[in-house]
Amino acid sequence: MRSIPPGVQIAPSILSADFAELGDQVDLVLAAGAKVIHIDVMDGQFVPPITMGPIVVKALAERVHDAGGFIDVHLMIEDPERQIDGFAEAEADLLTVHYEAVSEPLKAVERIRAAGMLAGIAIKPGTDVQVLEVVAEAVDLVLVMSVEPGWGGQRFIEASTEKIAEVRNLVGNGAVIEVDGGIDATTAASVVGAGASLLVAGSAVYSADDPQAAYRSIAAAASA
Ligand code: DX5
Ligand code: ZN
Repeated sequence: MRSIPPGVQIAPSILSADFAELGDQVDLVLAAGAKVIHIDVMDGQFVPPITMGPIVVKALAERVHDAGGFIDVHLMIEDPERQIDGFAEAEADLLTVHYEAVSEPLKAVERIRAAGMLAGIAIKPGTDVQVLEVVAEAVDLVLVMSVEPGWGGQRFIEASTEKIAEVRNLVGNGAVIEVDGGIDATTAASVVGAGASLLVAGSAVYSADDPQAAYRSIAAAASA
């Protein structure tokens, strides 16, 4: 089992990449220094869009792992437990399910770990941090959504920073806090200050003219 790369990490989300050139788009950010690749899985049910599944993770796994990288899969789907084995076989390193999509979050975490992956629980902007109490001891990562899940390119919800601090209080230093949505060079420092260390950036990286330079400037802002 691979561990989450230490320190503050920017995880480019391929949701905003050019899908006709997906392998090259992943290589580009790995070459710029990215160690975590974020993959957004949507089913048209939990959120309206449909994106990609294990078959895409599997197609990218070797190049990410050969470069020393880590595959972070964010499931925005109903009944995510049904897909755990498929993502394990596709060589995902971390599988995050939404609290709102599972009936027994602790069981979901245990099943993900039993399948050989690290386990994360995500909460939507409207979900209270306290619901995480039941998984606080067990989970490897908490993902705080700082936009409504479903689309890239939305504006960062300012109240997320306070939520990250609340999560840090709840889970102590036992779990990594990831933040997803609206992260760019202007929002990165405040979420790190609140306790997040894994920062997803989709459009800020891949919609930039120079994704490598954009990655580096967000990474620099996050560590400042
Ligand atoms: C949205 C996804 C995000 C998305 C973020 O539901 O979970 O990972 O790619 O996009 P940006 O960074 O553009 O807000
Ligand atoms: Zn995501």
